[in-house]
Amino acid sequence: MAKRMITTDLIEEDKGIENTLRPQMLEDYIGQNKVKNNLKVYIEAAKQRKESLDHVLFFGPPGLGKTTLAGIIANEMGVNIKITSGPAIEKPGEMAAILNNLQEGDVLFVDEIHRLNRQVEELLYPAMEDYAIDIVIGKGATAKSIRLDLPRFTLVGATTRAGMLTPPLRDRFGVVSHLEFYSVADLKKIILRSAEVFQVEIDKEGAEEMARRSRGTPRLANRLLRRVRDFAQVKYDGRITKEVAQFALDLLEVDRLGLDHIDREILTTMIERFNGGPVGIEAIATTIGEDVGTVEEVYEPYLVQNGLILRTPRGRVASDLAYGHLGLCRE
Ligand code: ADE
Repeated sequence: MAKRMITTDLIEEDKGIENTLRPQMLEDYIGQNKVKNNLKVYIEAAKQRKESLDHVLFFGPPGLGKTTLAGIIANEMGVNIKITSGPAIEKPGEMAAILNNLQEGDVLFVDEIHRLNRQVEELLYPAMEDYAIDIVIGKGATAKSIRLDLPRFTLVGATTRAGMLTPPLRDRFGVVSHLEFYSVADLKKIILRSAEVFQVEIDKEGAEEMARRSRGTPRLANRLLRRVRDFAQVKYDGRITKEVAQFALDLLEVDRLGLDHIDREILTTMIERFNGGPVGIEAIATTIGEDVGTVEEVYEPYLVQNGLILRTPRGRVASDLAYGHLGLCRE
């Protein structure tokens, strides 16, 4: 049977190109070895038992492969995938219709699952647990509730904000996987693979330079590859070398550590407005006009992992590395 991929919500501007780069099977997927190896076992076991896979929750910063893994799960299980997102489903009836249209074993991928409204979320509880939903027909004294059985489906939820998920929803996922930033070595492999898909020439040093400046994030690596390819084509001889990558990435204002302007604004604010810290995450977020949760769960993890921000019991502190990177001195 041909696989269906239905997208109800366009989330990224470059979804089309991204889709051509997505690996289709686990063996083509680079990095996230822990998550990948565990999934391999769960998929194999479910297939042997001829059951649907248990519900899976992926959390972690954006661009690390949550949607890609959902697609791979569907391909590996040999089922269809239906893709939607938390904010796209406004009413319980819409979710009921989606669930009712699934076939046995299908994957329902809900991106930004922390943004489902309460009524829709509550409909998911019995759907996930008992593969059934209760639908109320009529109003007031004559209202009747009927139970609708659903096919045994697999809900794959994705969120950048694990802290925003309600415990009853989180507890209904049998598999909870945290995606981590990719190593430079893995990003380099991804860039070389994508360059092959794009049929652009790139040497190892060029790929390594791009990998180092891709913020641990394949989506960013692939986006930068397209831009660097343009510079290579117009300003050079078409081949991406270290020099070409450096030239293009400097122009794109992606710095040597792959930080973007918000990353730098966070560090500059900590240093110039709060004397390098300790400072609370709320104060940083308010000062730069960003949502606290976004700073904490989207931006900060990369800065902490790379030793630019130190988390202490008294608050966040900008490290010597952060001062050095921004060319600033301690007072
Ligand atoms: N493209 C984007 N992410 C990828 C990954 N993890 N492995 C291979 N190709 C990718």
